[in-house]
Amino acid sequence: MNEQIATIQSQALELIAAASDERSLDDARVSVLGKKGSLSLAGAAIKDVPKEEKAAFGQSLNAARTAITSALEEKQIALQEIADRAALAGIDPTLPGRSLPTGALHPLTQIRDEAIQILRRMGFALADGPEIEDEYHCFDALNTPADHPARNEKDTFYFNSGKLLRTHTSSVQIRTMETAAPPIRIIAPGSAYRRDEIDATHLSVFNQLEGLYVDTDVTLPDLKGTLEYFFREMFGTSTEVRFRPHFFPFTEPSFEIDVKLQIKGQAPRWIEVAGCGMVDPAVFESINATRKDNALCPESVTGFAFGMGLDRLAMIRWAIKDIRLLIENDTRFLSQFA
Ligand code: DAH
Repeated sequence: MNEQIATIQSQALELIAAASDERSLDDARVSVLGKKGSLSLAGAAIKDVPKEEKAAFGQSLNAARTAITSALEEKQIALQEIADRAALAGIDPTLPGRSLPTGALHPLTQIRDEAIQILRRMGFALADGPEIEDEYHCFDALNTPADHPARNEKDTFYFNSGKLLRTHTSSVQIRTMETAAPPIRIIAPGSAYRRDEIDATHLSVFNQLEGLYVDTDVTLPDLKGTLEYFFREMFGTSTEVRFRPHFFPFTEPSFEIDVKLQIKGQAPRWIEVAGCGMVDPAVFESINATRKDNALCPESVTGFAFGMGLDRLAMIRWAIKDIRLLIENDTRFLSQFA
């Protein structure tokens, strides 16, 4: 091997061996292999080497480069190992890992999303309306007279302005029909407010899901079929569903819907889950009066509506005994739904 190159190689290997960290190793690399490094400069001199020695010179150059490069790589790995070991000082990497707590959707969110999914499959689209409502949209347009008990100051939160916190999501029916023309097929999940005494089954803020289907040929069998399907999807395909005659001012005829269910740890029984009925023509008439047209002509247009309590559905689904658990945000309760 060319003597000069042999010297460069042995000096380089010494430098590499002496490097104590990545930085000094890099300095060593640059001083030998860098553009102006000792081996690079020696290599550039090949042009001055006599022709017959060029081949041998080239070979020793390559051999030196290979030896230096592999020494650099080995040293790099050795330094990395030292650094890794230092980083682990005092840590036992063989201990089992700590699992991270996983988040989950709130049970009410889960029930709401499930209800929306089922109804969307049947063609219902989401609609929305304000929670701060006026008496007209919450009561009058829904054929609910001024002396109806729901309008009592003891039952409803009124503002000084005369506005109120909506007592049900049925107001979204009115808001929707004021601007849309049949066919209308909407659902409106959202909060409702009542001056209820808070106990295990009542909160002053709760969650409802309203539905409305208006077209030229909507019938009572459509209402029954839709809601039977809904509750069987929700609670199991063999769930019994019962329509019990009732009164609501804005539907005629009206029903309450019961499903026969066995809540964990209880005997099977009928549980009320929703109100529904065929839209009262008086509702169409008041909307036509606001719209100043006859888009909802009571002679040719029919519809059904329904409203259900989402908190109640969640309580039934998971056998939750106290509605207050749904708003306390106690992670010991919530983590059970993960
Ligand atoms: N709004 C009623 C309530 O809060 C529930 C209801 C009953 C809604 C009958 C409807 C319906 O759309 O047709 O008690």
